Amino acid sequence: MAVHHSILLTNSALLLLLILPFEAAQGGRAARFNHHWESTIRMPTEKEEPGDYEGKEVGTRWAVLVAGSSGFGNYRHQADVCHAYQLLKNGGLKEENIVVFMYDDIAMHEFNPRPGVIINHPQGDDVYAGVPKDYTGKDVTAANLYAVLLGDKSAVKGGSGKVVDSKPNDRIFLYYSDHGGPGVLGMPNMPFLYAIDFIEVLKKKHASGSYKEMVLYIEACESGSVFQGIMPEDLNIYVTTASNAEESSFGTYCPGMEPSPPPEFITCLGDLYSVAWMEDSETHNLKKETIKQQYWAVRDRTSNYNTYNVGSHVMEYGNKSIGVERLYLYQGFDPATANLPSNKLHLHTPMEVVNQRDADLLFMWQRYKKSEDGSENKKEILKQITETMMHRIHLDGSIELIGTLLYGPEKGSSILSSVRAPGLPIVDDWGCLKAMVRLFESHCGSLTQYGMKHMRPFANICNSGVSQAAMDEACAAACTGHNMMEWHPAIRGYSA
Ligand SMILES: *[C@@H]1O[C@H](CO)[C@@H](O)[C@H](O)[C@H]1NC(C)=O
Repeated sequence: MAVHHSILLTNSALLLLLILPFEAAQGGRAARFNHHWESTIRMPTEKEEPGDYEGKEVGTRWAVLVAGSSGFGNYRHQADVCHAYQLLKNGGLKEENIVVFMYDDIAMHEFNPRPGVIINHPQGDDVYAGVPKDYTGKDVTAANLYAVLLGDKSAVKGGSGKVVDSKPNDRIFLYYSDHGGPGVLGMPNMPFLYAIDFIEVLKKKHASGSYKEMVLYIEACESGSVFQGIMPEDLNIYVTTASNAEESSFGTYCPGMEPSPPPEFITCLGDLYSVAWMEDSETHNLKKETIKQQYWAVRDRTSNYNTYNVGSHVMEYGNKSIGVERLYLYQGFDPATANLPSNKLHLHTPMEVVNQRDADLLFMWQRYKKSEDGSENKKEILKQITETMMHRIHLDGSIELIGTLLYGPEKGSSILSSVRAPGLPIVDDWGCLKAMVRLFESHCGSLTQYGMKHMRPFANICNSGVSQAAMDEACAAACTGHNMMEWHPAIRGYSA
């Protein structure tokens, strides 16, 4: 063993000599250099990582891109994902190694002012052309995402059949953009993605030994809650999320806000965390920039430059040591960026934003404003806005009532809204959480992407040991006689 160590140390020393001039040439990199030095000294038993530095071989780079929504009011999620595809493609990833999940109802949507084109920035070019249609429409499901990640072709239903057929030396980058709620991520087809199922899939993938390292970027409301307290550190997976476990994430480039989309757009073009990482990647040399540097840059921009007066807390989970790696190992390298810096201070352009959950109302309101006064169309849109608001009020009110029925008027709302200590998952019994959601939906109607925010009350109902029979009774009492209309789970499907 001793001999083995010294050989590795020699290799490390050699490597440092090779990096030294490169780093010195960048200037002011002493801190980063020390970091290499320390990690090399501290872990002599580690083999040098092929591919961490220029000129060395890397395995195949894989990517999975997921837009979890549908509808023109959610334009931005599919725009984010198309943009990510172009970025990775420019970075040299092969189409055969990028699996795209998108509902694909935006480009040719009747409201799209630029038919066949999708943009992700007010002055942006088309990001839609060339995006492979691997899983679209009804095939965008949590079950297909799991099968694709596990490389399990036989479990895939519909779609192109493309899966992540990765080998032990390969790296995987997964990027997801949509609505979320405590413990869940949205999908355009029910059910939602439940945190515990997703983490199980990651564990299974790790156990199969079919990747070297994985990086996940997740944009959704409460996205931290998908990993908090349940994401292991020993899966060789590094995660960042747009928000912590208790807050919204935000849409940006929205009509009537700065920076504003072109006037003909009635919907937001992007999401704050998503455009922050992509615009960062496109303006830096990814052979030099580390994952951690991007994390700091994105965190800064997503929190409105650490003021948090708009925006959210970007979080990290999993194995944080992976953050010292260079981004090109996951996102590839675009030769056009060769002379760009590894990282730089950003111009502090303030970004106005809208809460993910209110973005669809903003969209409906834009439609309403733009439609002709006195027209049938205008009346129809007003009716839709009213019904959407009524359903939201119904959801909020019935959850509150259920809390009162279960715990009494003094304690109801504080029990439902209580937040567990940081580091604990939102619920211990995830099967219970799903069961409670189904009971609620069968009596009160579909939760919808807005109602995802009530996952925490359902989790707390489980945490406090309420039986399913008691919950069933409370839901029946709260919602009997309510006309579910289009929000009936028989139409919408159950979200659990
Ligand atoms: C985290 O990743 C580093 C770098 O790949 C590795 O050396 C370390 O063992 C990992 N930690 C855990 C807990 O797996």
